[in-house]
Amino acid sequence: MANELTVVVLAAGGGTRMKSKTMKVLHSIGGRTMVGHVLAAVQALEPERIVAVVGHQREQVGPHIHELVPDAVLAVQEELLGTGDAVRVAIAAVGEPTGTVLVAAGDTPLLEGESLRAFAADHLAAGRAVSILSGVVPDPTGYGRVVRGADGDVEAIVEEKDATDEQRAIDEINSGILAFDAAFLREALPRLTNDNAKGEYYLTDLVGLARDAGLSVGAFAIDDVAQTEGANDRAQLAELGRELNRRIVTRWMRAGVSVMDPATTWIDADVVLAEDVTILPGTQLLGATVIAEDAVVGPDTTLKDCEVGTGARVVRTHGELAVVGAGANVGPWSYLRPGTELGADGKIGAFVETKNASIGPGAKVPHLSYVGDAEIGEGTNIGAGTIVANYDGVAKHRTTVGRHARTGSNNTFVAPVTIGDGAATGAGTVVRHDVPAGALTVSSGPQRDLEGWVLRRRAGTTQAAAAESAGAEDPQRPAEA
Ligand code: UD1
Ligand code: CA
Repeated sequence: MANELTVVVLAAGGGTRMKSKTMKVLHSIGGRTMVGHVLAAVQALEPERIVAVVGHQREQVGPHIHELVPDAVLAVQEELLGTGDAVRVAIAAVGEPTGTVLVAAGDTPLLEGESLRAFAADHLAAGRAVSILSGVVPDPTGYGRVVRGADGDVEAIVEEKDATDEQRAIDEINSGILAFDAAFLREALPRLTNDNAKGEYYLTDLVGLARDAGLSVGAFAIDDVAQTEGANDRAQLAELGRELNRRIVTRWMRAGVSVMDPATTWIDADVVLAEDVTILPGTQLLGATVIAEDAVVGPDTTLKDCEVGTGARVVRTHGELAVVGAGANVGPWSYLRPGTELGADGKIGAFVETKNASIGPGAKVPHLSYVGDAEIGEGTNIGAGTIVANYDGVAKHRTTVGRHARTGSNNTFVAPVTIGDGAATGAGTVVRHDVPAGALTVSSGPQRDLEGWVLRRRAGTTQAAAAESAGAEDPQRPAEA
């Protein structure tokens, strides 16, 4: 197979400048870790295999990579002896790859599969031993410089620390993404030395070795250099995060989504939006959230792993793992916890918290309620201020309310309990056992008025004065002589 492709992702470095117990490539932007973005980009190449080199905190990094790419090969680099050594470890882990080996770093989260495809195609078409994905940058500090001869041919990559002043002035840099002819790579890797300023085995020295052997070497310059930028500290990570978000938001606007304020709208990489979705300011769409046509979300809404149906409206809401049906209304100030399912044309209104609750089509929980571990039937209306008491202090229990029921304000449903189809409850009812279909249930006692109580027990207060000036009398006080 002439076109066999092996991708090596370098992720052994520690990233001390993050000042974090979490390893650098596991820091996230756009809802994915940095290495997650790189893996998504390289998967677009459909390589025969992906080899990830892990070292620092490999007990965290390894499982994370396997979760994203179950058949990735993990190669362990015990000691960080340099990028050349890391690739040697990767190649040793897969035996004898043929075709092309593409090397990328795990910390370039803006990298796109399309750019890699163009780079790999150029490498193959030119039949080179080594191709460099290079970029021209305003400030090349820290990068390896691409040194070209008088004829413009690439001669070497020189690392910053090993560069002469003249070489440091070169603004074409090595992005760190390189493609190799596998046969050349396998033959040349053992010949790398660590005789340099950092005392490391530089992968980049393979450029000079290929040249010395009379093999073809070249650089493919990427215009969009942000794609090859890495984040070393949290400030750079936030900057890349903002740029990534700008790109994602722009892509969705081009795909037919209205975004009123791109600057305050955050959309994760895996979110899916339909045409004619409208997003209002201050909205975060996170994780695997999916929004259908004509839905309006925001302002000031966070939805993580949520599904919003066609034409639904979600205002000032925090939701996680919740489903909002077509034409439904949510908010303002609603809290949709995991397992919330609101049916088509249903409503979850102001100051309502829901959890593990299925609220049927056209059913409404309009005001100031908590609904947990419950099922509410089609067309039912739950009165304002209703609490589903789902937890008895030890275990959670389920509540079922039937179809087209009308429950009164300020009810408590003490689970486990079932309220039948078409049932009604009075205001202030505490429902402790099942309500038959069609019944009216009341539980609060008759109202009692203890006349004069305030005058007796709150004498001398403004409350008592107000009562007295309204003509209140204490029937228990003996009449004045
Ligand atoms: C490297 C390149 C440089 C390029 C730059 C782009 C070399 C010698 N230099 O320099 O030309 O401009 O990237 O960012 O390759 N890693 C390992 N094992 C190691 C050493 C590094 O896995 O032993 C990983 C790191 O975790 C990182 C990547 O390789 O993901 C690059 O290593 P780093 O030390 O950051 O190389 P740079 O000095 O940035
Ligand atoms: Ca680096």
